[in-house]
Amino acid sequence: MTPRLTQKLVINEVGQESAIFNKKWQATYIAPLQPPTLATFRSWGSSAGAGRVRPAKTNVRKFLLYSWLKLVGFCLDHRVVKRLYLQQPQIIIMKFFIDTANLNQIKEAHELGILDGVTTNPSLMAKEGIKGNDAITQHYKTICEMVDGDISAEVISTTFNEIVEEGKKLAAIHPNIVVKVPMIKDGVKAIKWFTDNGIRTNCTLVFSAGQAILCAKAGAAYVSPFIGRIDDSGWEGVQLVEQIKHIYTVQGYKTQVLAASIRSPNHIVRCAEAGADVCTCPLESILGLLKHPLTDIGLAKFLEDAKKTV
Ligand code: E4P
Repeated sequence: MTPRLTQKLVINEVGQESAIFNKKWQATYIAPLQPPTLATFRSWGSSAGAGRVRPAKTNVRKFLLYSWLKLVGFCLDHRVVKRLYLQQPQIIIMKFFIDTANLNQIKEAHELGILDGVTTNPSLMAKEGIKGNDAITQHYKTICEMVDGDISAEVISTTFNEIVEEGKKLAAIHPNIVVKVPMIKDGVKAIKWFTDNGIRTNCTLVFSAGQAILCAKAGAAYVSPFIGRIDDSGWEGVQLVEQIKHIYTVQGYKTQVLAASIRSPNHIVRCAEAGADVCTCPLESILGLLKHPLTDIGLAKFLEDAKKTV
Protein backbone atom coordinates (compact mmCIF):
# COMPACT_ATOMS: atom_id res chain seq x y z
CA MET A 1 0.00 0.00 0.00
CA THR A 2 1.46 3.35 -0.93
CA PRO A 3 1.66 6.14 1.71
CA ARG A 4 -0.72 8.15 -0.42
CA LEU A 5 -3.41 5.45 -0.27
CA THR A 6 -2.90 5.00 3.50
CA GLN A 7 -3.32 8.71 4.03
CA LYS A 8 -6.61 8.65 2.14
CA LEU A 9 -7.77 5.73 4.26
CA VAL A 10 -7.08 7.54 7.54
CA ILE A 11 -8.66 10.75 6.32
CA ASN A 12 -11.75 8.72 5.48
CA GLU A 13 -11.85 7.29 8.99
CA VAL A 14 -11.61 10.76 10.44
CA GLY A 15 -14.30 11.93 8.05
CA GLN A 16 -16.59 9.17 9.28
CA GLU A 17 -15.99 10.12 12.91
CA SER A 18 -16.76 13.74 12.12
CA ALA A 19 -20.03 12.63 10.60
CA ILE A 20 -20.87 10.73 13.79
CA PHE A 21 -20.22 13.78 15.93
CA ASN A 22 -22.35 15.69 13.49
CA LYS A 23 -21.22 19.09 14.69
CA LYS A 24 -20.71 21.98 12.37
CA TRP A 25 -17.56 23.21 14.03
CA GLN A 26 -16.03 19.75 13.86
CA ALA A 27 -16.68 19.63 10.15
CA THR A 28 -15.09 23.05 9.89
CA TYR A 29 -12.02 22.53 12.08
CA ILE A 30 -11.21 18.84 12.36
CA ALA A 31 -11.98 17.46 8.93
CA PRO A 32 -9.73 19.87 7.01
CA LEU A 33 -6.92 19.38 9.49
CA GLN A 34 -5.88 16.07 7.95
CA PRO A 35 -4.08 14.39 10.85
CA PRO A 36 -0.82 12.53 10.45
CA THR A 37 -1.40 9.27 8.63
CA LEU A 38 -1.00 5.80 10.06
CA ALA A 39 1.93 5.39 7.72
CA THR A 40 3.61 8.38 9.37
CA PHE A 41 3.24 6.93 12.84
CA ARG A 42 4.36 3.49 11.68
CA SER A 43 7.39 5.03 10.06
CA TRP A 44 8.38 6.64 13.39
CA GLY A 45 8.88 3.19 14.88
CA SER A 46 10.21 1.38 11.84
CA SER A 47 13.68 1.12 10.39
CA ALA A 48 13.22 2.15 6.80
CA GLY A 49 16.02 2.89 4.36
CA ALA A 50 18.94 4.55 6.15
CA GLY A 51 17.71 3.99 9.74
CA ARG A 52 14.81 5.15 12.00
CA VAL A 53 12.68 8.01 10.73
CA ARG A 54 12.32 10.78 13.33
CA PRO A 55 8.92 12.46 13.55
CA ALA A 56 8.96 15.96 12.13
CA LYS A 57 8.18 18.67 14.72
CA THR A 58 5.33 19.93 12.57
CA ASN A 59 3.79 16.45 12.55
CA VAL A 60 3.94 16.24 16.33
CA ARG A 61 2.37 19.68 16.68
CA LYS A 62 -0.28 18.68 14.16
CA PHE A 63 -1.00 15.52 16.08
CA LEU A 64 -1.30 17.35 19.43
CA LEU A 65 -3.58 19.99 17.95
CA TYR A 66 -5.68 17.30 16.30
CA SER A 67 -5.96 15.30 19.57
CA TRP A 68 -6.90 18.40 21.52
CA LEU A 69 -9.60 19.40 19.06
CA LYS A 70 -10.97 15.87 19.08
CA LEU A 71 -11.11 15.87 22.88
CA VAL A 72 -12.91 19.20 22.96
CA GLY A 73 -15.27 17.97 20.25
CA PHE A 74 -16.01 14.85 22.24
CA CYS A 75 -16.75 16.86 25.38
CA LEU A 76 -18.97 19.29 23.54
CA ASP A 77 -20.98 16.54 21.94
CA HIS A 78 -24.49 17.13 23.24
CA ARG A 79 -24.97 13.54 24.42
CA VAL A 80 -21.93 13.75 26.66
CA VAL A 81 -22.86 17.18 28.00
CA LYS A 82 -26.41 16.00 28.65
CA ARG A 83 -25.16 12.91 30.50
CA LEU A 84 -22.79 14.97 32.64
CA TYR A 85 -25.51 17.57 33.26
CA LEU A 86 -27.96 14.92 34.46
CA GLN A 87 -25.35 13.45 36.79
CA GLN A 88 -24.79 16.84 38.43
CA PRO A 89 -26.92 17.57 41.48
CA GLN A 90 -29.31 20.34 40.45
CA ILE A 91 -28.84 23.42 42.59
CA ILE A 92 -32.30 24.56 43.57
CA ILE A 93 -33.15 26.92 46.36
CA MET A 94 -36.87 26.37 46.74
CA LYS A 95 -38.78 29.63 46.81
CA PHE A 96 -41.60 30.24 49.27
CA PHE A 97 -44.80 31.80 47.97
CA ILE A 98 -47.82 32.36 50.17
CA ASP A 99 -51.11 31.01 48.84
CA THR A 100 -53.62 33.61 49.96
CA ALA A 101 -55.26 36.92 49.13
CA ASN A 102 -55.37 37.89 52.81
CA LEU A 103 -53.23 40.99 53.34
CA ASN A 104 -52.56 40.33 57.04
CA GLN A 105 -51.27 36.84 56.29
CA ILE A 106 -49.12 38.14 53.44
CA LYS A 107 -47.70 40.76 55.84
CA GLU A 108 -46.97 38.17 58.52
CA ALA A 109 -45.18 35.84 56.10
CA HIS A 110 -43.29 38.77 54.59
CA GLU A 111 -42.11 39.91 58.02
CA LEU A 112 -40.73 36.44 58.65
CA GLY A 113 -38.25 37.33 55.91
CA ILE A 114 -38.66 34.22 53.81
CA LEU A 115 -41.34 35.25 51.33
CA ASP A 116 -40.55 35.21 47.59
CA GLY A 117 -44.00 35.71 46.09
CA VAL A 118 -47.77 35.25 46.30
CA THR A 119 -50.33 33.10 44.53
CA THR A 120 -54.04 33.81 44.51
CA ASN A 121 -57.03 32.23 42.84
CA PRO A 122 -60.69 33.25 42.42
CA SER A 123 -61.71 31.26 45.52
CA LEU A 124 -59.08 33.01 47.66
CA MET A 125 -60.13 36.45 46.31
CA ALA A 126 -63.80 35.66 47.02
CA LYS A 127 -62.88 34.56 50.56
CA GLU A 128 -61.53 38.08 51.18
CA GLY A 129 -64.75 39.60 49.82
CA ILE A 130 -63.01 41.32 46.89
CA LYS A 131 -65.61 42.09 44.20
CA GLY A 132 -65.52 43.90 40.85
CA ASN A 133 -62.68 44.74 38.46
CA ASP A 134 -61.58 47.91 40.25
CA ALA A 135 -61.38 46.22 43.66
CA ILE A 136 -59.53 43.25 42.15
CA THR A 137 -57.04 45.51 40.38
CA GLN A 138 -56.49 47.57 43.55
CA HIS A 139 -55.99 44.42 45.62
CA TYR A 140 -53.29 43.10 43.26
CA LYS A 141 -51.60 46.52 43.30
CA THR A 142 -51.51 46.45 47.12
CA ILE A 143 -50.02 42.93 47.15
CA CYS A 144 -47.39 43.95 44.58
CA GLU A 145 -46.42 46.91 46.78
CA MET A 146 -46.12 44.65 49.83
CA VAL A 147 -44.04 41.84 48.30
CA ASP A 148 -41.21 42.23 45.83
CA GLY A 149 -41.66 38.94 43.97
CA ASP A 150 -43.89 37.17 41.50
CA ILE A 151 -47.62 37.60 42.20
CA SER A 152 -49.93 35.18 40.40
CA ALA A 153 -53.25 36.68 39.32
CA GLU A 154 -55.71 34.19 37.84
CA VAL A 155 -57.95 34.79 34.83
CA ILE A 156 -61.57 33.72 35.03
CA SER A 157 -62.07 33.58 31.24
CA THR A 158 -62.08 30.24 29.45
CA THR A 159 -61.87 31.13 25.74
CA PHE A 160 -58.66 32.12 23.95
CA ASN A 161 -59.57 35.72 23.07
CA GLU A 162 -61.04 36.44 26.46
CA ILE A 163 -58.10 34.88 28.34
CA VAL A 164 -55.70 37.01 26.29
CA GLU A 165 -57.68 40.22 26.91
CA GLU A 166 -58.08 39.55 30.64
CA GLY A 167 -54.44 38.45 30.99
CA LYS A 168 -53.16 41.61 29.25
CA LYS A 169 -55.08 43.75 31.76
CA LEU A 170 -53.76 41.77 34.73
CA ALA A 171 -50.19 41.94 33.42
CA ALA A 172 -50.51 45.72 33.01
CA ILE A 173 -51.15 46.16 36.75
CA HIS A 174 -47.50 45.56 37.73
CA PRO A 175 -44.38 44.00 36.16
CA ASN A 176 -44.38 41.32 38.90
CA ILE A 177 -47.81 40.00 37.93
CA VAL A 178 -47.74 36.48 36.51
CA VAL A 179 -50.95 35.60 34.66
CA LYS A 180 -52.42 32.38 36.00
CA VAL A 181 -54.12 30.38 33.27
CA PRO A 182 -56.09 27.12 33.65
CA MET A 183 -54.89 23.92 31.95
CA ILE A 184 -57.49 23.80 29.20
CA LYS A 185 -57.08 23.82 25.41
CA ASP A 186 -57.65 27.57 25.05
CA GLY A 187 -55.50 28.09 28.13
CA VAL A 188 -52.52 26.38 26.46
CA LYS A 189 -53.06 28.47 23.30
CA ALA A 190 -53.20 31.60 25.45
CA ILE A 191 -50.03 30.62 27.36
CA LYS A 192 -48.23 30.34 24.02
CA TRP A 193 -49.57 33.76 23.00
CA PHE A 194 -48.50 35.31 26.31
CA THR A 195 -45.05 33.69 25.99
CA ASP A 196 -44.63 35.10 22.49
CA ASN A 197 -45.67 38.52 23.75
CA GLY A 198 -43.43 38.68 26.80
CA ILE A 199 -46.09 38.03 29.45
CA ARG A 200 -45.20 35.43 32.09
CA THR A 201 -47.73 32.76 32.99
CA ASN A 202 -48.48 30.22 35.70
CA CYS A 203 -50.37 27.21 34.34
CA THR A 204 -52.79 26.14 37.06
CA LEU A 205 -54.97 23.09 37.80
CA VAL A 206 -52.29 20.64 36.67
CA PHE A 207 -52.83 17.03 37.74
CA SER A 208 -50.70 14.98 35.32
CA ALA A 209 -47.25 14.88 33.74
CA GLY A 210 -48.83 15.13 30.28
CA GLN A 211 -50.46 18.42 31.19
CA ALA A 212 -47.14 19.63 32.60
CA ILE A 213 -45.36 18.81 29.32
CA LEU A 214 -47.94 20.79 27.33
CA CYS A 215 -47.69 23.88 29.47
CA ALA A 216 -43.87 23.79 29.43
CA LYS A 217 -43.94 23.42 25.64
CA ALA A 218 -46.20 26.48 25.46
CA GLY A 219 -43.59 28.37 27.48
CA ALA A 220 -45.26 28.85 30.87
CA ALA A 221 -42.98 30.37 33.50
CA TYR A 222 -44.55 28.14 36.17
CA VAL A 223 -46.51 24.90 36.26
CA SER A 224 -48.75 24.35 39.29
CA PRO A 225 -49.34 20.70 40.19
CA PHE A 226 -52.02 20.50 42.91
CA ILE A 227 -50.47 18.26 45.54
CA GLY A 228 -53.21 18.30 48.18
CA ARG A 229 -56.06 17.73 45.75
CA ILE A 230 -54.19 14.76 44.22
CA ASP A 231 -53.71 13.30 47.72
CA ASP A 232 -57.43 13.82 48.33
CA SER A 233 -58.22 11.69 45.28
CA GLY A 234 -56.12 8.79 46.60
CA TRP A 235 -52.88 9.42 44.64
CA GLU A 236 -49.51 10.69 45.78
CA GLY A 237 -49.26 14.39 44.91
CA VAL A 238 -45.55 14.72 45.67
CA GLN A 239 -44.76 11.94 43.17
CA LEU A 240 -46.15 14.17 40.44
CA VAL A 241 -43.76 16.95 41.47
CA GLU A 242 -40.85 14.46 41.22
CA GLN A 243 -42.03 13.21 37.82
CA ILE A 244 -42.49 16.69 36.34
CA LYS A 245 -39.13 17.81 37.70
CA HIS A 246 -37.45 14.78 36.12
CA ILE A 247 -39.11 15.34 32.75
CA TYR A 248 -38.21 19.03 32.72
CA THR A 249 -34.60 18.22 33.58
CA VAL A 250 -34.27 15.53 30.90
CA GLN A 251 -35.97 17.68 28.29
CA GLY A 252 -34.37 20.96 29.31
CA TYR A 253 -37.66 22.83 29.84
CA LYS A 254 -37.21 26.12 31.67
CA THR A 255 -40.67 26.10 33.29
CA GLN A 256 -40.45 26.18 37.09
CA VAL A 257 -42.32 23.59 39.12
CA LEU A 258 -44.55 25.42 41.59
CA ALA A 259 -46.01 22.94 44.05
CA ALA A 260 -49.52 24.14 44.90
CA SER A 261 -52.45 22.99 47.02
CA ILE A 262 -50.15 22.49 50.01
CA ARG A 263 -51.88 21.27 53.13
CA SER A 264 -49.16 20.71 55.73
CA PRO A 265 -45.57 21.45 56.75
CA ASN A 266 -44.74 17.88 55.72
CA HIS A 267 -45.93 18.66 52.18
CA ILE A 268 -43.44 21.54 52.08
CA VAL A 269 -40.57 19.32 53.24
CA ARG A 270 -41.46 16.62 50.72
CA CYS A 271 -41.74 19.12 47.87
CA ALA A 272 -38.26 20.42 48.78
CA GLU A 273 -36.96 16.82 48.63
CA ALA A 274 -38.69 16.29 45.29
CA GLY A 275 -36.88 19.31 43.82
CA ALA A 276 -39.79 21.76 43.53
CA ASP A 277 -38.60 25.18 42.41
CA VAL A 278 -41.35 26.90 44.37
CA CYS A 279 -43.80 25.88 47.05
CA THR A 280 -46.92 28.01 47.51
CA CYS A 281 -48.29 27.47 50.97
CA PRO A 282 -50.97 28.66 53.35
CA LEU A 283 -49.49 30.69 56.24
CA GLU A 284 -50.42 27.89 58.66
CA SER A 285 -48.19 25.38 56.83
CA ILE A 286 -45.28 27.83 56.71
CA LEU A 287 -45.57 28.54 60.45
CA GLY A 288 -45.95 24.79 61.06
CA LEU A 289 -42.35 24.37 59.90
CA LEU A 290 -41.25 26.23 63.03
CA LYS A 291 -42.78 23.74 65.41
CA HIS A 292 -41.10 20.94 67.30
CA PRO A 293 -41.96 19.92 70.88
CA LEU A 294 -38.29 19.39 71.75
CA THR A 295 -37.55 22.97 70.71
CA ASP A 296 -40.27 24.20 73.10
CA ILE A 297 -39.08 21.95 75.97
CA GLY A 298 -35.43 22.89 75.33
CA LEU A 299 -36.17 26.61 75.24
CA ALA A 300 -38.23 26.46 78.45
CA LYS A 301 -35.29 24.75 80.20
CA PHE A 302 -32.75 27.26 78.88
CA LEU A 303 -34.90 30.18 80.04
CA GLU A 304 -35.41 28.56 83.43
CA ASP A 305 -31.66 28.00 83.84
CA ALA A 306 -30.94 31.51 82.58
CA LYS A 307 -32.68 32.92 85.68
CA LYS A 308 -29.86 31.36 87.76
CA THR A 309 -27.29 33.36 85.84
CA VAL A 310 -28.85 36.79 86.44
C1 E4P B 1 -52.48 27.99 44.00
O1 E4P B 1 -51.91 28.38 43.03
C2 E4P B 1 -53.66 27.14 43.95
O2 E4P B 1 -54.74 27.81 43.41
C3 E4P B 1 -53.97 26.66 45.34
O3 E4P B 1 -52.78 26.19 45.92
C4 E4P B 1 -55.04 25.63 45.42
O4 E4P B 1 -55.09 25.15 46.73
P1 E4P B 1 -56.31 24.30 47.30
O5 E4P B 1 -56.31 22.97 46.64
O6 E4P B 1 -56.05 24.20 48.75
O7 E4P B 1 -57.56 25.07 46.99
